[in-house]
Amino acid sequence: MASGWRGRDVISILDFTRGELEELFLEADKVKMALRRGGLQRRPLEGKLVALAFFEPSTRTRMSFEAAAKRLGAGTIGFTGPEGTSVEKGENLADTIRMLDAYADLIVIRHRYEGSALYAAEIAEAPVVNGGDGRQHHPTQAMIDLYTVREAHGRVEGLDYAVVGDLRYGRAAASFMLALTIFRPRRLYLVYPPQLAPRREVVSALERAGVRFERAELEEVIGEVDVLYVTRIQRERFPDPEEYERVRGSYRVTASMLEGARDSLVVLHPLPRVDEIDHSVDSTRHAWYFRQARNGVPVRMALLKLILGG
Ligand code: NCD
Repeated sequence: MASGWRGRDVISILDFTRGELEELFLEADKVKMALRRGGLQRRPLEGKLVALAFFEPSTRTRMSFEAAAKRLGAGTIGFTGPEGTSVEKGENLADTIRMLDAYADLIVIRHRYEGSALYAAEIAEAPVVNGGDGRQHHPTQAMIDLYTVREAHGRVEGLDYAVVGDLRYGRAAASFMLALTIFRPRRLYLVYPPQLAPRREVVSALERAGVRFERAELEEVIGEVDVLYVTRIQRERFPDPEEYERVRGSYRVTASMLEGARDSLVVLHPLPRVDEIDHSVDSTRHAWYFRQARNGVPVRMALLKLILGG
């Protein structure tokens, strides 16, 4: 078991089969159980070193990777933001990656350029994990999202989903939609302001996979879905600040909107949230986003364990 995972790069969620993702979830179940009992008895990654190269801001992704590595016995090195590294002196990405490759056993990279993780994987011998490349992919977030859906509903396939928000610039939303081509939803509703429509490559992937999807309004779909995946408008990726001003605050989920929801509805959000989920939702039984964030550690532990062996 797990042989297909060893040494693997993680660039896109589409690099993985359903069987492989299920294997990851089983491993995450074991890790989660061990964490509940107070931690792992063994340190399977003792002596290993994970590099965390975060060229863009991050709270959860970086800290949960760091927590995951450390709980497995591995050490971490890295940075958040190019400040303080030689990137400030004009060092290019390739040279920075070569150095990290020389120092660590696995590299997690987040960068504002699309394709940066794939580029890093071509340079580095060590496995590279994409912690977010521009607006393109965020595969480990999708793994956590699917794992959380499975925890809430006992399965991922055959459910009714709505993905809400910035489907154009949001990499977490993109990876989640792509993930649904692997686990077939019953229905997929896409809710977005016209300026933030999903990108061509995502729409084509959904079409190719035969996923039944349609555009819908938030109020219409809340009573129709098992999973409501809400995302933030990615302000920092708008080429024009005025374009952002036009869509800002254009959707918001509140507790009263959830009154007609299915009992089983879970609201997910990759976080950080700005104003798209009202705080009144936090105390409803539908709020699963903090549990989702907590799953970041066991899922990333399972991932590191499968890739680095032990
Ligand atoms: C996401 C990201 O960075 O793409 N955050 C995360 O990793 N949970 C989502 C976002 O920033 O909106």
